[in-house]
Amino acid sequence: MNKVLLVAASAALAMGSVAVQANPFDALGCSGCHGTGGKSAIPTYPSLAKSARPDLDIVKELKAFQTGARVDATMNAMAAMTVGQEQAIADYLAGQ
Ligand code: HEC
Repeated sequence: MNKVLLVAASAALAMGSVAVQANPFDALGCSGCHGTGGKSAIPTYPSLAKSARPDLDIVKELKAFQTGARVDATMNAMAAMTVGQEQAIADYLAGQ
C-alpha cells in the first residue's frame, strides 16, 4: 500500500509541475486510484463522480476519514491532505 501511495504522490507531483491550475482532485493524486474525473475502472477504488455516485457526500466522507470516524488506512492518509480543499474537490466531482 505504501508503494501505491508513493506512486500516487509522484503522479501528483508530476502533474503539478506541468498543469498550471490543476484541480485539487488531480493535484493531490486522487485520480491515480479513483480514475480520471472520479470514474474508476477498478472495483477496489470506488467511483466518486457525481454521474456515477449521485448520493455520495464527498465533504462528509472526507471529514469522516480525517477524524477517524471512518477507518481506511489509505483514505485516512489521503483525506489528511484535503483539509481546506474538501469543498473544492466536491465541486470538481459534482461536474463529472
Ligand atoms: C491509493 C489509492 C487511493 C488514493 C490515492 C485515494 N483514494 Fe479515496 N479511496 C480509496 C479506497 C480503497 C477507498 C475505499 C475505502 C473504504 O472501503 O472504506 C476510498 C474511498 C474514498 C471515498 C469514499 C467513497 C465512498 O464510496 O464512500 C472518498 C470520498 C474518497 N476516497 C476520496 C478521495 C480523495 C478526495 C482522494 C485524493 C485526496 C483520494 N480519495 C485518494 C483509495 C484511494
